[in-house]
Amino acid sequence: MAYELTDEFLNELRSRVDIVELISRAVDLKPSASSFVGLCPFHNEKTPSFHVDPRKKFFYCFGCQTGGDAITYVMKTEGLSYPDAVVSLAERVGMSVPVRDTLDSGVTQMRKKILEMNRLAGRYFHRLLWEDVGKGALEYLVRRGLRKNTIIRFGLGYAPPGWHHLLEELRKKGYTEGEIKASGLVSVTEKGMFDRFRDRVMFPIIDQNGNVIGFGGRTMKDDPAKYLNTSENLIFRKGHNLYALNFAKASKDGELILCEGYMDVIALHQSGFCNAVATLGTALTPEQARLLKKYTDRVILCYDNDEAGINATRRGLEILSSVDLQVRVLTLRGGKDPDEIIENKGRDFFRTLLEESQNGLDYKLNRVLSRFDLSVDSERVQCASAVFDILAQVSSPAQTEIYAERAAKELNLSTDTVKREVARRKKKQARQREKKEIQQENNRLRGIGDRINPQRAAYPRAARAEEDILALMLNYPDRIGKLRKLVAPEDFVTDFNRRVFLALLEEADADPTRDPSVLLSRYFQPEEMGRIVSFLSSCEAIDAEEDKIRKVVETLQEEKRKITERAAGGERLLAENLKKLSQKYRAGHNKTEE
Ligand code: UTP
Ligand code: MN
Repeated sequence: MAYELTDEFLNELRSRVDIVELISRAVDLKPSASSFVGLCPFHNEKTPSFHVDPRKKFFYCFGCQTGGDAITYVMKTEGLSYPDAVVSLAERVGMSVPVRDTLDSGVTQMRKKILEMNRLAGRYFHRLLWEDVGKGALEYLVRRGLRKNTIIRFGLGYAPPGWHHLLEELRKKGYTEGEIKASGLVSVTEKGMFDRFRDRVMFPIIDQNGNVIGFGGRTMKDDPAKYLNTSENLIFRKGHNLYALNFAKASKDGELILCEGYMDVIALHQSGFCNAVATLGTALTPEQARLLKKYTDRVILCYDNDEAGINATRRGLEILSSVDLQVRVLTLRGGKDPDEIIENKGRDFFRTLLEESQNGLDYKLNRVLSRFDLSVDSERVQCASAVFDILAQVSSPAQTEIYAERAAKELNLSTDTVKREVARRKKKQARQREKKEIQQENNRLRGIGDRINPQRAAYPRAARAEEDILALMLNYPDRIGKLRKLVAPEDFVTDFNRRVFLALLEEADADPTRDPSVLLSRYFQPEEMGRIVSFLSSCEAIDAEEDKIRKVVETLQEEKRKITERAAGGERLLAENLKKLSQKYRAGHNKTEE
């Protein structure tokens, strides 16, 4: 649908959305002076630096510099584009978005086509599984222990050998070359397109809304690419989806089992563990963690018991805990993955493993304790040190106390020693964190590694003056008229700040009665919005007094002049050097001629 996001509509939407209410659904916000504060949902923190300003209708985190308005918030938390975020917000406050005409926009149209093509491909692959050409694939699946109804439930299929089968199917249905290319179901070379999946068992990947968004295809031979995925496109993003979530989300178990592979998930579902999901061949991402959090508060990590799986478990624990999921870790034995274990040992054994699963802290401690030989003093020292580090990350005092006692027993140390060491490391970790934050803040002030405004590091004085001007415009919109007589876009040195300046002028022109900051998010990426909102809170730097304004403008113009002169001077110097060189060359040249 093509929406008409008019100023009037956006303005009305902004006024209807209660940003505090919106954010407090996910973040525990407490009132403070003129705003609300809570723990930032965009980075991991223990003391709140996330502020929501109900008057300006902005949020901002002083820790990670993420900020923006309600639309930015929805874009970031739900991974939506600007128009999609607007539509989502409008629905929540019961507004209907004005529609431009009955024609769909290009992107929406393309999304629809890709989903159609995927569904068609899924049906095509599934049909072939029951035909002669698919006999080997069907036998393969049966040999791997899948029952017919499981194969049907998961819509498994077979992609035939040959280069153009699916391609022809799609062409026959009238899809254009461009649409087929965009589907990710074909590979593209300069010679043309061909089927991406050839002679593979096909696993359709279905999102939580029931759309077929892509495929995983397994070779039945020893192709080095054991599994191949649809290439990433408008619809299919490996790091944003989970296999079988469409089924698992409806499971009544209340917790989700996260494993590594398609076959693990299918084997588990077939044995009655309908709450299993898997990542799609990449390490777990924060987006996937947030997706899990939508459907549950508890996750059981069930990765393979090899080195890769153990490392993935460690990172997984961190990512899942950072979105406030309670995590238990299942340690596999009797096979390398859940699929094998179900096959070798049966479902009751797997249920036992589930019951044996440990919380993250127990898992980490037990792993460390079992890695060392505690009868050897030097190993006991190393082990103790690793244990102290783990306990130092525990924040609850009761938990610290209980685990310190247990660690003391295991390590044969006094509880006092353990507690003292843990406290010491806690302090050390806090100091290190603080140091890192200060370093980051210093880098930020000096503009090092600044992706939003890369010119800031080279022209710090000019950039600060620019930001003072922008802060003034954002905080005192009524001064914009006066200010624009004093300062022009050409006075700006850094491109990013000039863009903000231009956007604010544009908004002020569109409707002088409206706060020009209200519709800013339509010009800027969510990352950029964070920077702009940070100007708002730096308003102590300048207030609306006339002579101060004049002074800032003068500073900027003076800097601009210096920079321009320096650039011109640089060019003059280059020209002079070149002249000297060419004189020398001419002299030498003349000499040889003589
Ligand atoms: P594994 O290699 O552990 O395979 O990869 P598996 O799941 O046990 O597969 P089977 O039982 O041999 O059929 C785990 C997951 O990693 C991704 C797939 O999602 C797979 O399920 N993967 C693996 C790939 O994407 N590409 C590969 O080449 C291999
Ligand atoms: Mn396997």
